[in-house]
Amino acid sequence: MNKLHWIQKSVAALVIVASSVISAASTAASENKELIDPRNDAYQQQHPDQYHSWKATSESEAIDDALADDPNMVILWAGYGFAKDYNKARGHFYALDDVRQTLRTGGPTDENSGPMPMACWSCKSPDVGRVIDEQGEDGYFSGKWAKGGNQIANPIGCADCHDTRSDGFKNGEPALALAKPYVERAFVAIDKPFNKQSRLDQQASVCGQCHVEYYFTGPTKAVKFPWDMGTTVGDMEKYYDALGFKDWTHKVSKAPMLKAQHPGYETWRDGIHGKNKVACVDCHMPKVTKEDGTVYTDHKVGNPFDRFEDTCANCHTQSKDQMLEIVNTRKGQVHNMKLTAEKQIVAAHFEAGAAWEAGATEAEMADILQDIRHAQWRWDYAIASHGVHMHAPEVALEVLGTAVDKAADARTKLVRLLAKKGITDPIELPDISTKLKAQQALGMDMDAMNTEKKHFLETVVPEWDKQAQERESQF
Ligand code: HEC
Ligand code: HEC
Ligand code: HEC
Ligand code: HEC
Repeated sequence: MNKLHWIQKSVAALVIVASSVISAASTAASENKELIDPRNDAYQQQHPDQYHSWKATSESEAIDDALADDPNMVILWAGYGFAKDYNKARGHFYALDDVRQTLRTGGPTDENSGPMPMACWSCKSPDVGRVIDEQGEDGYFSGKWAKGGNQIANPIGCADCHDTRSDGFKNGEPALALAKPYVERAFVAIDKPFNKQSRLDQQASVCGQCHVEYYFTGPTKAVKFPWDMGTTVGDMEKYYDALGFKDWTHKVSKAPMLKAQHPGYETWRDGIHGKNKVACVDCHMPKVTKEDGTVYTDHKVGNPFDRFEDTCANCHTQSKDQMLEIVNTRKGQVHNMKLTAEKQIVAAHFEAGAAWEAGATEAEMADILQDIRHAQWRWDYAIASHGVHMHAPEVALEVLGTAVDKAADARTKLVRLLAKKGITDPIELPDISTKLKAQQALGMDMDAMNTEKKHFLETVVPEWDKQAQERESQF
């Protein structure tokens, strides 16, 4: 479909959307239900301290290329979007920019193209709660990611953690709230319904809406947290195995892989602070006192060491330097163990690839591929929980230890299988010393992906912004 055609279709879609907003508004009016206002600016007048500190998350703007830092990850994610592009987290303010810019979301040219489902917007914007409120979960989740481009327009903000329509919010004493029914259900599954949680628990659960493990399921590829059997690495592995779920098939080893998202909530729970009910907010959103003596919650979610006096020092007597040293030592330990696990899992993928080439059968490979799946799931669970070296270093080290063990199981079996097929020399690895070389080793056409992305950002995204502005001007 050419571009003009798509714009015409988008306008048509906008009319449909506009009329569904009107009908939602009229249902809402007949039910006396106010619509969610997703615009963060809309709350600036009412809550200036919270708004300005929220907006200051934009100061964390550096983009740090995780694949360039560690090209092993390109191989580990071969055949999956993360091998294309993966940056470290930055400020909440950039959540939408980043999901549009990453090569993982591709370069859709119309609302039905592109690799990703709608679910990929789910932890980026208060518009998600708004659209679910107006269209239901099926209405929101169905379709491709590009379908939501003109709807999902504001980065992570007020309506993600508060019911901005409540009297409390308007009076300045807002309760915390979840805007997404699938998050509510996940907390029910672990026997912690949100509205029955203590205030401290809720202060972690609002972060747990997004800083968690989840997967996409059912005909609409809706978000679900895999918590039905529990939240440890083993519980979730059992859950996925029982379902026979895989995120993708590994390009080299053909193993049925799991991608851990960012199980920060789950690992925090098992760490010393989580066990003592020290919530995310105690460190990342402290209460601060203004010059006039009034107190507010600092909404600049960032690195707690940047304001040590309001965070760690509330509970600990050690100096900032002492604490930094402890945390940095642990960071180094987790990092080393991460690299150790990667070395084994990367080798296992290539050895499995060589076994297939040497004529191994599905039956001969099944056990080995399951070991690789489990090894990498454990590696990913530990390292994708950003900040885990602070939150639960002992959990990270233990889980990474089991990843190494599972990879060793796979490799022991592979040596035997390869020998059976007449291969006794060690399997040579290609040059994967840089991100680009690793991507080339997998035959990935990065130029084509970058060109497609550029075209998308220049032609499609401006239309999305225009349409969103038109809709929002109706508020
Ligand atoms: C990531 C979650 C999150 C986001 C986003 C968020 N808040 Fe909050 N907000 C909190 C938490 C946590 C508290 C403290 C609650 C408590 O004390 O139990 C809070 C407290 C508040 C309070 C009560 C007074 C205070 O400072 O403690 C106001 C008012 C408020 N937020 C307004 C806003 C506004 C306006 C926005 C958007 C610009 C916003 N919040 C975005 C989590 C969030
Ligand atoms: C609606 C989903 C959502 C909620 C709610 C949320 N986060 Fe995030 N958070 C994200 C995403 C997405 C990113 C990465 C943004 C990027 O890199 O573009 C992020 C980034 C971060 C970062 C990195 C910031 C930086 O400057 O490097 C920290 C720390 C963080 N979140 C902590 C928290 C805490 C603590 C809470 C609860 C108070 C919370 N988040 C609530 C989705 C969320
Ligand atoms: C006891 C304090 C504390 C608690 C509680 C805590 N964090 Fe952190 N968190 C930190 C510190 C400190 C860092 C940065 C570590 C470093 O500098 O290496 C961090 C790092 C992070 C990061 C990585 C940021 C990045 O840019 O890589 C994320 C995301 C995060 N925390 C989210 C959370 C969430 C979500 C929770 C609750 C489920 C939580 N934290 C609970 C102290 C805490
Ligand atoms: C709200 C209170 C609170 C805050 C804020 C807090 N801690 Fe803690 N911290 C605790 C408690 C409680 C324990 C467990 C103490 C025990 O069991 O002896 C603990 C334990 C620790 C330990 C020792 C346990 C271990 O892992 O070996 C370290 C290190 C630590 N905290 C670092 C930090 C750092 C760094 C920050 C700031 C980023 C911080 N804490 C913020 C309450 C807090």
